Amino acid sequence: MPPKKKILITSALPYANGPIHVGHLVEYIQTDIYVRFLKLIGEDAIYCCADDAHGAPIEIAAMKEGVKPEEIIGKFHIGHQEDFEKFHISFDSYYTTNSPENQHYSNQIFNELKKGDLIYQKEVELTYCPHCKRFLPDRYVKGKCPKCNAVDQYGDVCESCNATYNTTDLVSPYCTICGSSPGRKKSTHYFFKLSHFSGKLDSWLTANKSLQPEIVNYIRNWIKDGLQDWDISRDGPYFGFKIPGEENLYYYVWLDAPIGYIASTQHYCKANKLDAEKHYWKSKNSKIIHFIGKDIIYFHFLFWPAMLMGSGFNLPEEIVVHGFLTVNGQKMSKSRGTFLTAGEFASQYNPEYLRYYYAKTISKKMADIDLNFREFEDSINNELAANIGNFCYRVLSFTAKNFDGKIRGKGRDGKLLKEIDDVVARIKDSYSSVNLNEAVKGILALSSLGNKYFQENEPWKLLKTDRKKAHDVLGTCVDITKILCIVVSPVLPVFSSTLQNQLNLKKLSWNDIGVETKAYSINEPKVLVERFEQKKKDLFPLDLKVARIVEVREHPDADRLYILKIRIGKEERQLVAGLRKHYSADELKGKKIIVVANLKPAKLRGIESNGMLLAGEDQNGNVGILTVKAAEDGESAMFGSSENSKLQVTYEEFEKLKMIVHDGKVLYGNQSLSAGPEDVVVDKVKEGTVH
Ligand code: 2FM
Ligand code: ZN
Repeated sequence: MPPKKKILITSALPYANGPIHVGHLVEYIQTDIYVRFLKLIGEDAIYCCADDAHGAPIEIAAMKEGVKPEEIIGKFHIGHQEDFEKFHISFDSYYTTNSPENQHYSNQIFNELKKGDLIYQKEVELTYCPHCKRFLPDRYVKGKCPKCNAVDQYGDVCESCNATYNTTDLVSPYCTICGSSPGRKKSTHYFFKLSHFSGKLDSWLTANKSLQPEIVNYIRNWIKDGLQDWDISRDGPYFGFKIPGEENLYYYVWLDAPIGYIASTQHYCKANKLDAEKHYWKSKNSKIIHFIGKDIIYFHFLFWPAMLMGSGFNLPEEIVVHGFLTVNGQKMSKSRGTFLTAGEFASQYNPEYLRYYYAKTISKKMADIDLNFREFEDSINNELAANIGNFCYRVLSFTAKNFDGKIRGKGRDGKLLKEIDDVVARIKDSYSSVNLNEAVKGILALSSLGNKYFQENEPWKLLKTDRKKAHDVLGTCVDITKILCIVVSPVLPVFSSTLQNQLNLKKLSWNDIGVETKAYSINEPKVLVERFEQKKKDLFPLDLKVARIVEVREHPDADRLYILKIRIGKEERQLVAGLRKHYSADELKGKKIIVVANLKPAKLRGIESNGMLLAGEDQNGNVGILTVKAAEDGESAMFGSSENSKLQVTYEEFEKLKMIVHDGKVLYGNQSLSAGPEDVVVDKVKEGTVH
């Protein structure tokens, strides 16, 4: 037998200056499930990834914090790995692009491209801030859009009219670091001849049948429109690798980021006495598969393959592209309460449930997917708990109770076997084609098949009439449980390993599906999936936060309303509040108040209000704000030990909650509202209601 093809699978490298969030997790979970499946069927597959550690934002953040970039990326490197572990993302190598291996391959590829006459130097004129003594990348210069004149637009694209342009095209630009107005400066940069690869890229795209056709069409149109050569260098100060022979010029982060795939492979290879080039990136007996999001298609379907073609490395055989994540139908955003980090999710739910939900939602399509919490909880309760979990527990506990956990072992029932074989084949095909939603459908069908068999054979009745037959029925059900345990393991590795222990089996692989269950004894069964209810009681639906009022303006069209600018930790927001009859602007300024941070934004007389402040009112119409002294803005205000939900609520949902003022404090049920160590107090009102 020829040696097995070595398969290398990667996910996009997350930036090392922010936490992993539920949006990122779509891809890591999708990839991890696929890799676990390949390993389960006996493929020689590895999963490599790394932190994307370079670039201007990391350097600028470090400069602002007065630390070294290494300190920031080091912290996130640890945090990312902890988050991945929580969600059972099992990398064979999780490395960083700021590594000696990555510098080595970056130089190697750069030199190869230079040798091939695929890189040239050209003078460019760029936006430069003399005060900060630095060139300003897109995101660090703002000004008026050169097309539509909209103010406060970034240096690359106008959010108002969608025009794209260069930083030097901005009208009245200003440096977002220091606020001063920048000038221009010339610099000599390195360019990669992307245009040279148009034909080769087009042939690669058309020849490769594993690429998603909708994307291939898209990219081929870009090629037809003409490819621009690519500036692969950046002036210092920059955090990255210096270009050999240059004093103050670095590789652009997008050059060395994908090379990080090779460096991470080498990191794995070194520990396993292999070589990244020989065994993966230049081998004839290997296959490379990238998983990415649709925002980085350009880099992975054009720049990256061209770089690989120009330097003698293998090209990816597959690039699986997924869409964006919305949360409860909305774009992920901090102000809407729809931005959830991996850590926040894991503190509220079993991380494995997110694996299940994403698996049942993702197909091999570029379509966006939605994390809808109602559907999420329903699918855990109705599918995972009521169908799969319930079947397995019912079978094992029945066997334990009535047969002392002993299985008799008997040949498989032919008709049932055929049905099982069909559904297992379907599951395998679906996993193989990364149609995880179809795989989950198959798993549920298998579990339903088991439930139906159990129900129809009524072993609880047979116990009295034909005990031997009852025992055989249970044997078949244990057999199905074992198969479920195997096919579900890529999605739910912990559930599967717990079940495997209860089954008293070890190291099950896909091949064990075909092996009949012999006479043996199972272990003690326990409930596998808890339904949600109990947890929800402790969750208070409002995200109450301490905020500081930094600015008070009068609403131009409503004499009862103020427009407030408030600070919630690092975040600044605008609120509209009906306090003009009760407070002067000066009285409010600087006060620390309590706001509902997850209320659906609304327009009040034409002005956007992003959240709402809370106030008490008594029977005489006195109105007083809820306020605190010591607590910092950004801190949560909570009733007793219940946690605040981050999910958006509507005004109607808010109105249904009955919070009251009693003795100058705020009560919900019999719990009082506190922020940090202190109780929240109500100004001017002793007894009344809160709204
Ligand atoms: O878009 C991003 O988040 C990048 N950090 C992805 C890099 S993927 C690869 F090319 F390195
Ligand atoms: Zn500046």
